[in-house]
Amino acid sequence: MCGIVAYLGDKEAQPVLLEGLRRLEYRGYDSSGIAVLNGKGLEVTKKVGRIQQLERVLAVRPLHGSLGISHTRWATHGKATDVNAHPHTDASGKLAIVHNGIIENYGILKKKLIDKGFQFRTETDTEVLAFLIGFHFDTLDTDTENRLEMAVMEALREVTGTYGLVAIHQDQPGLMVGARRGSPLVLGIGKHEHFLASDVSAMAAHTQTVAHLRDFDVVTIDRNGYRLKSLSQNKVGLEISKIDYQSGEAEMGDFPHFMLKEIFEQPISIQNAFRGRLNLDESTAQLGGLNLTPQDLREIDRIVITGCGTALHAGLVGEYIIESMAHVPVEIEWASEFRLRNSPMDRRTLVLAVSQSGETEDTLGALREARRKGHRVLGICNNVASTLARETDGGVYMYAGPEVSVAATKSFTSQVVIFALLALLLGRMRFLSASQGRGIIEAIEALPDQITQVLRQSAHIRKIAEKYRNANSMLFFGRQMQFGIALEGALKMKEITYIHAGGHPTAELKHGIIALVDEKTPSVFLCPKDGAYDKNINNLQQVKARKGPVIAVATEGNEEIRNHADDIIYIPDAPDFAAAILSVVPLQLFAYHMAVILGRDVDKPRNLAKSVTVP
Ligand code: AGP
Ligand code: GLU
Repeated sequence: MCGIVAYLGDKEAQPVLLEGLRRLEYRGYDSSGIAVLNGKGLEVTKKVGRIQQLERVLAVRPLHGSLGISHTRWATHGKATDVNAHPHTDASGKLAIVHNGIIENYGILKKKLIDKGFQFRTETDTEVLAFLIGFHFDTLDTDTENRLEMAVMEALREVTGTYGLVAIHQDQPGLMVGARRGSPLVLGIGKHEHFLASDVSAMAAHTQTVAHLRDFDVVTIDRNGYRLKSLSQNKVGLEISKIDYQSGEAEMGDFPHFMLKEIFEQPISIQNAFRGRLNLDESTAQLGGLNLTPQDLREIDRIVITGCGTALHAGLVGEYIIESMAHVPVEIEWASEFRLRNSPMDRRTLVLAVSQSGETEDTLGALREARRKGHRVLGICNNVASTLARETDGGVYMYAGPEVSVAATKSFTSQVVIFALLALLLGRMRFLSASQGRGIIEAIEALPDQITQVLRQSAHIRKIAEKYRNANSMLFFGRQMQFGIALEGALKMKEITYIHAGGHPTAELKHGIIALVDEKTPSVFLCPKDGAYDKNINNLQQVKARKGPVIAVATEGNEEIRNHADDIIYIPDAPDFAAAILSVVPLQLFAYHMAVILGRDVDKPRNLAKSVTVP
């Protein structure tokens, strides 16, 4: 993944680049670096760790110059170390590049270059690309006018894989060359200055005029402006637009972590997901952004939901909601699988791509594959300035506000609410009566207060986390709409506490998972009062019979559960879809408190990135 920021203008580059990098930290944060061109030539500083580490070094030894490139990395090839951090230089040390993506044939290219006598210093694919561009640069005549641009283009013709990249060279000191294929790169056009960055947030403080490069575009920027070329036969041309991006930092306020703040924001973020979208007169939902006529909606006879991680779990809950309310068959599929699979679909199939960031490479790959086949793809997305928002035929924004913590929380509940709205809309065109529609609307409207009630149990949930702090492994069980919640609870636990956790359909317990049950392995049972309650209690007792500690998430007023579970977290009584939303909140808090107790880096857990922009 990685974030790229490059600057050419009349200001000092370093502060502009560092500020941009901070905004792109969601794309990766294992190391970072910057390179500038100035009277002394090319100067590079890179550092493993967070951007603060780089800032510390640069505070002592700043790099001066008004042309520079920078990078925050999420390693794909080669460990997170100082030397593997970007920018990477070529063999001569005069060219530097930053790169987002994966050079898939780097092994072959590296071998060819080694055979020519080159010696590599790092384990990365990116260094191979730097050497390759440098090699072409050095074989071109020194008086070639577009030497760096030509070298970049020659090198990229040999490359398979994905890249967003920016190159600079000491022998062509007044320019930078950017190119993209598969990884985003945005050109920012300011007054006497230009930017290239992975997304607009990195430049929004300086300019509102931007253009998203298309695959195979190559842009060369110098002090007089920019010039565009293409590596494909496509007609070159940039669509310049004005962005309306609020560059204000998300503030933590009184909360110790963004994750806790975002968990506590859910009564509001959920309201933002349904505000203005409920039609009380007709007991239905209105979702103008779908860009579909009532006839189009009526004709949909199958829905495929795709996404990754938490977004996919929301889709799994959505599958049950849509099927039960609208009787439209739904399938969910991990975007990484969908993009490679040739799943049979016809023209009445609607594809829904779900992503908080709208930048997840696998999800974008899946939506592009579906669109290439001529299917209508709608997005459910939070980031309105994202690639997903631009590349879908319509969709529903979450309006959840910035989600900074790597662990997704409020985006999940907003996504499930949006599925409920969609199910209500489709259902009211099919089988749902007006009074059933009204019941769903009432349940949606009740959610903010009900979530507030669950949040009040934060201290109680912290005590439960204390009790199980020594667990090495945990199990999460749920059925029907609660199955997606079990998966999500387990994912939250894994990603921020590093405790192994598995989410399972409850009844699967006896088909193998029960072998894991012992006194030290807590099981979380999602067992609100629903159609599966009695069966869930049977399974719960099977765990108790094997001395496994049990934490139950149950419906308020259920006293009987006290006879079975060791610890209980109550949620308000609500219809199944709303109970799913209410049940995830205690699991978010459970993982959060556990991570704090264990001293983990809650908002930026190890090895992760907020947005996974590599395949
Ligand atoms: C969630 O806590 C994870 N960090 C991760 O699974 C995430 O949901 C996934 O990478 C998808 O991100 P997206 O919603 O931005 O596409
Ligand atoms: N493949 C490059 C590296 O490992 C870039 C990684 C990325 O874009 O995530 O450094």
